Amino acid sequence: MTTLFTNVKGLVGVHQQNELLRGKALAHLPIIEHAYLLVEDDRIAAFGPMSELQLQPEDFNHIINASGQFILPAWCDSHTHLVFAGSREGEFVDKINGLSYADIAAKGGGILNSAKKLNAASEEELFRQSYQRLHDVMKLGTGAIEIKSGYGLSVEGELKMLRVIKRLKESSNVNIKATFLGAHTYPQQFKQDHEGYINQIINEMLPVIAVECLADYIDVFCEENFFSPEETERICRAGINHGLKAKIHANQLTLSGGVQTGIKLGAVSVDHLETMDDDTINTLRNSTTIGTLLPTAAFFLRMPYQPARRLIDRNCAIALATDYNPGSSPSGNMNFVVALSCIQMKMLPEEAINAATINGAFAMELEDEVGSISVGKKANLILTKPMPSISYLPYSFAHNLIDRVMIAGEWVK
Ligand code: NIG
Ligand code: FE
Repeated sequence: MTTLFTNVKGLVGVHQQNELLRGKALAHLPIIEHAYLLVEDDRIAAFGPMSELQLQPEDFNHIINASGQFILPAWCDSHTHLVFAGSREGEFVDKINGLSYADIAAKGGGILNSAKKLNAASEEELFRQSYQRLHDVMKLGTGAIEIKSGYGLSVEGELKMLRVIKRLKESSNVNIKATFLGAHTYPQQFKQDHEGYINQIINEMLPVIAVECLADYIDVFCEENFFSPEETERICRAGINHGLKAKIHANQLTLSGGVQTGIKLGAVSVDHLETMDDDTINTLRNSTTIGTLLPTAAFFLRMPYQPARRLIDRNCAIALATDYNPGSSPSGNMNFVVALSCIQMKMLPEEAINAATINGAFAMELEDEVGSISVGKKANLILTKPMPSISYLPYSFAHNLIDRVMIAGEWVK
């Protein structure tokens, strides 16, 4: 099937180089005004200014006059926990009533609450709920996504989650990367026996995950009262030996050492980064590891936002993602992440869009497939409603400015 878009007001993210953007380059978001775009099957086949359109419009199955509208690459959400069972709005109300994240975790809430629900749910039910969430975020413009395990915390539970992610990959045309996060917290029965759980991760979970090819990455929640830098390193090294690269939950609540550990391990990304000091920023800027910022988690937990401006101005490579999960970010809406980044972290609209597209693609090692409008990349596109400029998108926060979303050349219904 071919689709020709004509009279596009702005074709956004037409990067000529397929490069991870850092520092000043993050604000460079190339746009072709009054453009055409040709999609053939699942790929971008051609684009350029309308004045250069030589093809005869009669040749196409579908012609869409996108006058007044913008086309962007679909969002690349490089950090989510989209597979989970049920929800935790009870804890949300507890927090309104004054309990802290740590208070809730201490009384068996938080991650352990989700683990209880997940272990009680059948694989079929978990798949059904997760598929619905995936479809919902596709309608919001997400075309590539990373999904973690980490609510199983048992051999069966973790494998069940990863098998659900595998089934999501098989039943959708979104690019999906799977991350094994067995080290999300210690399950109740291992509260006093950290060594026992780490051994279970290394000796019982990882070998099966490797044989069944259930994960691309390994993640650890490196944080005080969760996993120390030493434990993080040990678990990740075991994952690396099975062919998984590291992506680390780092520096969310404290200066946990997670960033330094991730960089030492050659992590693709270190994620969260609410708590950063100069030394940590310096380590990050001198590395090839991407810092993935999750502002909706800070928003929802009423925590300080990630220091995006300092990170960008000091030449770190950053991406933006939703952290979609039932405890700290029960939203997978990348449009809101982009708006919040501009409003609360003072990112320029161009910086936020690049961080949520091309840099997000790099944070999933999918940069050859998605993240920009380039010939040969997948036709993962957001067609906006008519709007005056690209800055209007984050400015009109919480409005739905998406007209339609195309993933792999097919409209999301
Ligand atoms: O990325 N911080 C660790 N994990 C999740 C939250 C998990 C939960 O509360 O369920 C996060 O924010
Ligand atoms: Fe997370």
